[in-house]
Amino acid sequence: MDPDSTPGWPGEPDVAAAGRPNRCERSMLESLVGMLAGYDPEDLVGLPTDAVKGASGCGTPVAFSDLLQGEVVLDLGSGAGLDLLLAARKVGPTGTVIGVDQDEISIDRARSNIAASGFDKVEVRRASCQDLPIADRSVDWVISNRGVSLSVNKAQAFAEIHRVLKPGGRVCLADIVAEGLPEWMPTCGPMVAPSCGVVISEQAYVSGLAAAGLADIRHGGRYVFAEPELTALVRLAGCADGLTHSAADFAREAVGGVWSVYFFARKPLEIHQEGDMQDKKKEDSR
Ligand SMILES: C[S@@+](CC[C@H](N)C(=O)[O-])C[C@H]1O[C@@H](n2cnc3c(N)ncnc32)[C@H](O)[C@@H]1O
Repeated sequence: MDPDSTPGWPGEPDVAAAGRPNRCERSMLESLVGMLAGYDPEDLVGLPTDAVKGASGCGTPVAFSDLLQGEVVLDLGSGAGLDLLLAARKVGPTGTVIGVDQDEISIDRARSNIAASGFDKVEVRRASCQDLPIADRSVDWVISNRGVSLSVNKAQAFAEIHRVLKPGGRVCLADIVAEGLPEWMPTCGPMVAPSCGVVISEQAYVSGLAAAGLADIRHGGRYVFAEPELTALVRLAGCADGLTHSAADFAREAVGGVWSVYFFARKPLEIHQEGDMQDKKKEDSR
């Protein structure tokens, strides 16, 4: 595919080159991937530049969640913190936003962006999505922007999401899924490189959420990645090292088989008595 034919794509970077991206390429790749996520530029006004530049998700989960003032939001794989800040705007001064990320550099970056933003009641904790430092039944929303697909043990990550949600709490995860890839990919390709975890299919994702006990699961808003976009994603993830195929080879063969999608779900209310039934009816009508 001609990179210039992709709207908004300012020319393919030299992503087929071997080795990790250098700082300059990394910054360019981050901006390109941030553009792919589809943030509304108006929503980004007034937020710290580093948080905006550091966006490397695949969607805009805050825009797709009806966060209310005063709610508690947990962002899995919070990176440089852009979604934390967008969530903080929505839940207001009475709400709380917590980000979890396993990477120390991301945590430091998010902390300075939170400080620069001036938002109170936003914090990050260094931990894995598979072992959340969050109390049971304590959050109204779990959001994520390409954090769960990077977890090696997704069943455990889904179980943790269920554990920390309040009954009736909701989920909006933007993530990457893959299907029908050539056979060599799962064994030698970026999809299983240790830094990337294992990208699963849309159906496996839905089944995993259901197995963890989540309900009302739906998905939508697919965006199938074009070839240069896939190359950039693989390069940014640092997954091209040590492969038998280059990032460009991977992208050529994977095109059409990798897309981003939103998953929505809810933790069921526990119905013990008549009063809870009224709560369930109210919740269902939201
Ligand atoms: C693709 S980046 C997305 C960052 C951010 N959500 C955004 O939209 O810019 C994924 C983030 O998830 C973190 N991450 C990957 N696997 C994780 C895990 N198992 N537990 C916690 N964080 C993880 C990475 O360190 C990285 O910051």
